[in-house]
Amino acid sequence: QYYKEPFRPQFHFSPEKKWMNDPNGMLFYKGTYHLFYQYYPEDIVWGPMHWGHATSTDLIHWQHKKIALFPDQLGLIFSGSAVMDTYNTSGLGTKENPPMIAVFTYHNMEFEKAGKINTQTQGLAYSLDEGETWTKYQANPIINNTTLRDFRDPKVFWNNDTKLWNLVLVAGDRAQFYTSKNLINWNLESEFGQNKGAHGGVWECPDLFKLKINGTQEEKWVLLVSINPGAPNGGSATQYFVGDFDGKTFTTSQKEIKWVDYGTDNYAGVTYNNAPNGERIFLGWMSNWNYARDTPTTNWRSAMTLPRTLSLSTIKGDYVLQSQPVAQLDKQLSTDFSIEKIKLNKGTNKTFTYSNLNQSKIQFKAENKNLKLVFSNDANDLLVLHYDAQKQTFAIDRRLSGKVNFEKSFGEKIHSTPTPNLITKNIDFLIIMDWSSIEIFLNGGVYSFTEQIFPNQPYTKLTIQSVESQEIKNTTIQSVKRIW
Ligand code: FRU
Repeated sequence: QYYKEPFRPQFHFSPEKKWMNDPNGMLFYKGTYHLFYQYYPEDIVWGPMHWGHATSTDLIHWQHKKIALFPDQLGLIFSGSAVMDTYNTSGLGTKENPPMIAVFTYHNMEFEKAGKINTQTQGLAYSLDEGETWTKYQANPIINNTTLRDFRDPKVFWNNDTKLWNLVLVAGDRAQFYTSKNLINWNLESEFGQNKGAHGGVWECPDLFKLKINGTQEEKWVLLVSINPGAPNGGSATQYFVGDFDGKTFTTSQKEIKWVDYGTDNYAGVTYNNAPNGERIFLGWMSNWNYARDTPTTNWRSAMTLPRTLSLSTIKGDYVLQSQPVAQLDKQLSTDFSIEKIKLNKGTNKTFTYSNLNQSKIQFKAENKNLKLVFSNDANDLLVLHYDAQKQTFAIDRRLSGKVNFEKSFGEKIHSTPTPNLITKNIDFLIIMDWSSIEIFLNGGVYSFTEQIFPNQPYTKLTIQSVESQEIKNTTIQSVKRIW
């Protein structure tokens, strides 16, 4: 019975019950990945926010923990981050038992009701038992606000170049960068964003980190900024900027707008602090504010994306952020189905029948040519993916994919994305499908697409339609074991 309700993700993180949105406080410490999240324990729609908590040792299997942070007289607990204060710079623990520190946004409902603008401030809480129990700092808020309507989602990290703490938060149409010696007193150093990037909606959930460019020794800083609305296919999405950061100021020569994921359902994603081996691990909330409250699940709502490893490469002289599912997922796979080569003549199809594609990983290498993939079942649900090599676009059509009528925009349009960076002779397809999601990674995550789907029955057929003659290699379909 457990985790088997209709549409319940079988190998993605979802809360045991009730409403979840953004991932928060992602921190690796002593072999454990902590995941906190925006949580409303009373209903399956958004409400007074808490921080839920879960832990994992492999990023795949999760253990639910007690609620970490509850609203208090200063407000609801909105999104934020967590660090280990290893040298007890805050003085809130000891050197022997350093505090785990969470920095989050307080949203004051009383102020909001009274029509005040300055509803959002930043607060701090600490834990002396590895995240089990939390104490709010007695002199909250640590960053006050008197003038801004939107002022939230602090990401804190240790900057090893400057030996200072950094914090980045968003203030409406821009990001603000702060420094601190002790995680409590913060100095505003600079701002970034006016006239840069996408501004279809307010900026939310920033992150800032350094990555090495694949195959070089060069390092660049990546700034993530979620926006809602204003996504390429409607509603919520996460953009990124590649540039430089000297500990105080972020600069970039980037002109065009770049997105972490081009699907409709990857929002508010941020990365782990202190992940092992210098890895940059990302998790997003697999939903979209356009319909997050309306999806057809019953006693819980929404899930996280698969954890993904981020990397940076150069394509056509420009920086590209790539994302791929973490390698740990491989432990969940069987090798049910594998076929070496498929030759498809122009206009022909090849259909694979498989008991449950909604719990599978599909991989193949295709020529850089026109190709359609159709997922279907006996209920006549159809999910269509179309790579158009001439137009250089990748499209997802979920209009007939199953339940779509719970909200108008969900199944209204084909989601088409320009893919000018797919310049190789062959294209690697990686598709991971859970009961209510599809994640697609092209060429090692040069493009990724994450979308929710609600098929009336699991898809059991995958048809590859060649618009041109085509050779497809290394096809594998593997089932992914459930984690709950
Ligand atoms: C993003 C967001 C954040 C905010 C949180 C509230 O989805 O709007 O900006 O902190 O959700 O739950």
